[in-house]
Amino acid sequence: MSLQLEKTLVILKPDAMQRNLLGEIITRFEKKGLKIVGLKMIELEDILLDDHYAHHKDKPFFAGLKNYMKSSPVVVIALEGIEVVEAVRLLVGPTKSRIADAGSIRGDYSMSGQTNIIHSSDSSENAAAEIKRFFKAEELFNYKKIDFEFLYGDEEREELV
Ligand code: CMP
Repeated sequence: MSLQLEKTLVILKPDAMQRNLLGEIITRFEKKGLKIVGLKMIELEDILLDDHYAHHKDKPFFAGLKNYMKSSPVVVIALEGIEVVEAVRLLVGPTKSRIADAGSIRGDYSMSGQTNIIHSSDSSENAAAEIKRFFKAEELFNYKKIDFEFLYGDEEREELV
């Protein structure tokens, strides 16, 4: 079996900004042992949202979703780790926050299925596309972190391709 370091994208949505939750959420990722390889604050424009939410364009909530996502800047973060897409999905919890497990980010900080404070990529393929959508190549960083040897066991590190 070979393991891969993969990347995933999260968006800290306008309600996370307004409710002063950025530090809390980023701290969770840091404490979990996820490596931040990209991070910036941006305003989302229609063209980018139309692309990002293309699969929702026929849904009745599409216009409201776009307005919400444009209501303040957001913070986009690229995270790296082994099986990080799945790890972050578990940390984030399901779309409808009020039924998310206590202990997950949505479970602890949100009640809504729309204003659910955070987005995370749902598959490795989508993560790659979303990182490309939100980050230029020069905004992603490849650097050594000193906790790496303690975050993963020797067999896991050796299996990395
Ligand atoms: P996310 O999973 O990050 O990406 C799609 C977003 O659409 C989702 O978070 C919510 O913010 C929003 N969304 C999904 N389902 C609904 C719904 N039924 N009503 C309103 N907004 C929704």
